[in-house]
Amino acid sequence: MRRCLAMLVLGLPLLVDAAEVDGAASFVQKCAACHTIGKGQTVGPDLKGVTARREQDWLVRWIMHPDKMLAEKDPIATDLLKQFNGIPMPPQGIAEEEARALLAYIAAQSAGEQTASADAGSGRAEVAGPAPIKITGIPRIALVTFLAIMVFIMLVFLSIGRSARSAQPLDMKSAYRLRARLFVGAVLIVAAVLAFTLPQTPYPDFTQTPERVIHMAGNQYSFMFFNEPVTRAEDLAQIHPVALDELPADKLLEFRVTSLDVNHGFAIYSPDGQLFAQTQAMPGYINRLRVRFKDPGRYNIFCLEYCGAGHHLMRSELVVR
Ligand code: CUA
Repeated sequence: MRRCLAMLVLGLPLLVDAAEVDGAASFVQKCAACHTIGKGQTVGPDLKGVTARREQDWLVRWIMHPDKMLAEKDPIATDLLKQFNGIPMPPQGIAEEEARALLAYIAAQSAGEQTASADAGSGRAEVAGPAPIKITGIPRIALVTFLAIMVFIMLVFLSIGRSARSAQPLDMKSAYRLRARLFVGAVLIVAAVLAFTLPQTPYPDFTQTPERVIHMAGNQYSFMFFNEPVTRAEDLAQIHPVALDELPADKLLEFRVTSLDVNHGFAIYSPDGQLFAQTQAMPGYINRLRVRFKDPGRYNIFCLEYCGAGHHLMRSELVVR
């Protein structure tokens, strides 16, 4: 059973990447943390019959861009936000085709259809299986170096253990001389490493005034951006989030990062998938993260700290023009 579950979890991304979007798998991966269909309200509304209650196009847009619709103060979206304790639906990076597959799945489940149940995903996931992990490049060099150092340390301990058995009188003078030489050697190595790396530390220059200050408040499980500071969940009723789809390139920007519940990681990834900048989002603290985006494009934002069952759902994006 546990093995099946592990395979299901590991296999899900493979299913979603398939050319044909599987609404059931997508629902389990992206919606089930907060929504149910006909089992009663959880974090978000229960979705039974939602496709009959609301217009299809509204639902598609809401699934794709909940942050934008809240920023535009869409009346239904604003109402839902109030009803659900100010916890906004986080954008999940869902494309139109996937949104329509999700709605088809929700409609089928609402009608009591059993054929496309979420459990059916497990059978297919088992066939796909987890992909084998291959370690190449720098991680491989790091792994080999680490193992070599471990072997060396073990050999040193073995030889010390063996020499301790043959009790010869110690020459204290030469032992102290060796210790002094090792100490000077270690100091020289540390000084050289610091002299080489410290000047390259990318500490921001806080004497400059940023072009724009963006306030970020994280909560389980979304990142929200505001033009004014938001430090308590109650603020969400008055201050509305903004979408970051027009950030200027090559200008100094400052994110003031905090959290409304638990610790989160706030990490920005550049369009080519490299970690660009990151800081911690902590309740009761505001961390300032200064960035200057060089390349225009879509930047992903991910949570880098395990913050609860929906940690993997915690993502957002920003666009640099
Ligand atoms: Cu927020 Cu992990």
